[in-house]
Amino acid sequence: MTVSRALALLVAEGVVVTRPGSGTFVAERKEARGSADRGWQNAALGERRVDASGVALGLLPVPAGVVPLIGGYLPESLRPERALAAAGARAARRPRAWGAPPPEGLPELRAWFAGRAGCAPDDVLVSGGGQAALWLTLRAIVPPGGPVLVESPTYPGATAAARAAGFVPVPVPVDGEGVRPELLIEAFARTGARAFYCQPTFHNPTGTVLSPARREAVLAAAREAGAFVIEDDFARHLAIGPAPAPLVAGDAAGHVVHIASLTKATAPSLRISGIVARGPVAERIRAGQLVESFFPAAPLQETALEFVSSPAWPRHLRAVAAELRRRRDALAAALAAHLPEAEAAPPPGGLYLWARLPDGVDDVALAETARAHGVAVAPGRPYFPAEPPAPHLRLSYCAAEDTAALTEGVRRLADALRATR
Ligand SMILES: Cc1ncc(COP(=O)(O)O)c(C=O)c1O
Repeated sequence: MTVSRALALLVAEGVVVTRPGSGTFVAERKEARGSADRGWQNAALGERRVDASGVALGLLPVPAGVVPLIGGYLPESLRPERALAAAGARAARRPRAWGAPPPEGLPELRAWFAGRAGCAPDDVLVSGGGQAALWLTLRAIVPPGGPVLVESPTYPGATAAARAAGFVPVPVPVDGEGVRPELLIEAFARTGARAFYCQPTFHNPTGTVLSPARREAVLAAAREAGAFVIEDDFARHLAIGPAPAPLVAGDAAGHVVHIASLTKATAPSLRISGIVARGPVAERIRAGQLVESFFPAAPLQETALEFVSSPAWPRHLRAVAAELRRRRDALAAALAAHLPEAEAAPPPGGLYLWARLPDGVDDVALAETARAHGVAVAPGRPYFPAEPPAPHLRLSYCAAEDTAALTEGVRRLADALRATR
């Protein structure tokens, strides 16, 4: 296995060539071309650049020996890799697997997403991962150069997508019950925004669940403004306690566009999501997906369908919930014991503790120092679309090897904090 992989890599790099029937040979060396001048591209491309730094950070591997209190996907030990591999193998062999699926997605998978969102299967478009769905939805709704309201703090991937598309993210503060409705109403009125991006359930980074009264208030604010709510339901299946019904379930008039991704509860490469949209916006999003990428690959849709409709899915969710609870509690206990200066309320779901640091601490500098002390953490600053009101860290409890590693990570973080003061 290792030798054939090494050979495949050498072939891909052009170092060797394989000749069927005769063997593998060292390839002829091509003359090196010297370093070409590609500076002309800067003039041709102009200033419209994409800043993906906030997103890329969480995808980079953490060096060996560094405790990862960073990262937003389940660790390998918690991924249902065997079940996915079996589902994938079966999916790839199905007769329809490599043809074009219906452009809206496999009917059974649309029905599965519809069941979760409390809507009709026809309201669902099967899309790529949550990030692709978000990018598609934002561009379907927000006019060129227009404002889009976002929670503050929020997921940096959402602000990066909005900025890359030329939109202006406008922050609306959240507290322990989610977004503050009076400030949302005021922001709609002040900016004329047509969309509010939010995560009402296990919000990234704070873990907050939007309270029942505020759910009503958010829907009322959108109705009043004649605007859309983009509900990013990324962490529904990472519930530690009960999860409320999604916002979309209480909206008949089509204000809510709901995005449900499968990656977070399964594996980063199961890049399948369901977008629920009703009315003309649904048509726009569908057309957008067609012109952008046609449809998500059928074998991946089949794999997702096979896995989520098998008995392995509820079993997997129960195992994930139990393990996340253990990890969340261990991280909270380690903070209380070794880093009492950091205040963090344990969230009812998701993968993160959002730790408020003492005033005056530079969270970005602390994250750098922490790495030198052997622990990787995410500074709070990129989560704020504008100036942060206070320093924070986002501490992930999903990626470390076990609870002992979480405690060790916090000890190292405490050393780093003391070193910076
Ligand atoms: C809030 C939120 N939404 C969406 C995504 C995108 O995830 P994916 O594209 O893997 O579904 C992430 C990933 O970190 C996230 O944190």
